[in-house]
Amino acid sequence: MVTINDNFQKLPGSYLFSEIAKRVAAYKESNPSAQIIRMGIGDVTLPLCDAVIKAMHKAVDEMANQSTFRGYGPEQGYKFLIDTIIKNDFEPRGVSLESDEVFISDGAKSDTGNIGDILGLGNIVAVTDPVYPVYVDTNVMAGRAGDLLADGRWSKIVYLPCTAENGFVPELPKEKVDVIYLCFPNNPTGTTLTKSQLAEWVKYALANDALILFDAAYEAFIQEADVPHSIYEIEGAKKCAIEFRSFSKTAGFTGTRCGLSIIPKSVLATNEKGEKVQLNKLWNRRQCTKFNGTAYVIQRAAEAVYSEEGKRQVKDMIDYYITNAKIIRNGLEAAGYTVFGGKNSPYVWAKTPDGMDSWSFFDYLLKEKNIVATPGVGFGVSGEGYIRFSALGDKDATIEAMKRLG
Ligand code: MLT
Repeated sequence: MVTINDNFQKLPGSYLFSEIAKRVAAYKESNPSAQIIRMGIGDVTLPLCDAVIKAMHKAVDEMANQSTFRGYGPEQGYKFLIDTIIKNDFEPRGVSLESDEVFISDGAKSDTGNIGDILGLGNIVAVTDPVYPVYVDTNVMAGRAGDLLADGRWSKIVYLPCTAENGFVPELPKEKVDVIYLCFPNNPTGTTLTKSQLAEWVKYALANDALILFDAAYEAFIQEADVPHSIYEIEGAKKCAIEFRSFSKTAGFTGTRCGLSIIPKSVLATNEKGEKVQLNKLWNRRQCTKFNGTAYVIQRAAEAVYSEEGKRQVKDMIDYYITNAKIIRNGLEAAGYTVFGGKNSPYVWAKTPDGMDSWSFFDYLLKEKNIVATPGVGFGVSGEGYIRFSALGDKDATIEAMKRLG
């Protein structure tokens, strides 16, 4: 008799963005002429930049020629990309990494979702609330989350509320936790931590033998000087943190797929005999078994992001989206909304008007304004009463959306 992983049956019906897509499709079917503006899922809309396209074409040609053709690549990623990333993203910030501390992947969603493979099921997991649903759902699948409570929380997960009341800065947990997911600039609130605020977390992790899983997928949007791009800018973080990065929002790779995980060899965790083990070794073993590497063409595309031309073009893309975020912030504020985020991030987080709950406001926006946003409660209980707008859309559509709201 085949049995299932019962943890999957504990999960709510569908993944947040699939649920939204379903509701939008149903509305569109009965209102085919509706001019819907999509500001829901954080999907990019600008095409890949020229430098990336050129590199991809060149790599495709290499694949067409027997002397330059590549078969299986290294599971960890090609050295040409790893070294380029270290040289451009980390060394200028005073962070030294060895090539075998970086693992190229098909994106931060996979890596943040899969990292639990190498962590014990007994770990107590803490998440900020609201939170990117992947962190919670994958812990439910693994059996680390306990049971779903009536208030929408999971019995074994420790929630760290991030709301307007605490300035979206999570408080250190009162109870002992082992694994802490932090995403800054934050998805969904678009808010950030300063270096000294993040340093408190590193201090906590070091003092409590905890592991920080730091999702830096949105670091390219940082505009302010005091916001850390990498957790390794904080002293001691190389002993207690794994960092995830992505080319999805940075360079428009949502459909192209490339990301990376950084696991310094100094990050240790304890085995059942009480011995300290390098998480780097376990992840390497996991990747070699379950992953055959990101496609060569895609890794050449990612490398091109760091060419002089690529850097300029990618910066133009980021500027475009940051301008959209400003248009959203200004438009919402002018219409009387209270808004957060959107300064170092492509997400603007707003309070729903008149105390409406998130899903009612989502429905109102869809049906009355033909705008798709993401209901805050979809990211967790503390997101109730908020809504998220993505600035990764087309600029004219963003302006039009704000006109509709005004
Ligand atoms: C989001 O809208 O939160 C993101 O696009 C989801 C993701 O990156 O997977």
